[in-house]
Amino acid sequence: MIIAVDGPTASGKGTIARTLAAHFGLPHLDTGLLYRAVGRQVFLDGGNPDDGAAALAACAFADSLLLDPHLRSEETGGLASRVSVHPTVRQALFARQRAFAMQPGGAVLDGRDIGTVIAPDADVKLFVTASVEARARRRHAEMRERGQPVSLPEIHADVARRDARDMERADSPLRPAADAYLLDTTAFGRDQAVEMAIELVEEIRLRGRPA
Ligand code: DC
Repeated sequence: MIIAVDGPTASGKGTIARTLAAHFGLPHLDTGLLYRAVGRQVFLDGGNPDDGAAALAACAFADSLLLDPHLRSEETGGLASRVSVHPTVRQALFARQRAFAMQPGGAVLDGRDIGTVIAPDADVKLFVTASVEARARRRHAEMRERGQPVSLPEIHADVARRDARDMERADSPLRPAADAYLLDTTAFGRDQAVEMAIELVEEIRLRGRPA
């Protein structure tokens, strides 16, 4: 079973994907981490993330970079969003993601274009979303917990900027696949959202796609 989980930044898609993977005993790939590694590598090379050639060269990052804690920072998230607009970068990362999706037994992948480009043949496609305000509040709370002092208006602006870049890029923009299930988590806590996702996948697995 291939499960595609897409959605904007701070929507909760990562938590949902990880929990689905554990629940159904499937391997999980956070594809955002690959783009973050490219963004981080450009930074380490002293290059410009908006320059297609510099971003493409950074796709040859060493796998050990995937363990770098800097990959989780807001700064690297912004760099990832910028390198991800280049079609050559998306192409360079395609084979790795596709191979992960096609492994025997299936997999869970989360990102922006899993249901539309990487695994259009996925058995289940979820599009997890929430209002910009709710996502900014969650991200703000997370960062305060980690002791990173940043204001809510700053985070709100950053989330909105990332949304615009991810949705408006020409190649593989963030959008729900025509056959994706929309999961709006604005009014739900993390546990409730995860429970709803598990129920949905169980139902599809047992009965096929609901009409
Ligand atoms: O999910 P994330 O915040 O770690 O992703 C960081 C950036 O990477 C995101 O702003 C856009 C890009 N990305 C992408 O273009 N396609 C994906 N499948 C995953 C991430």
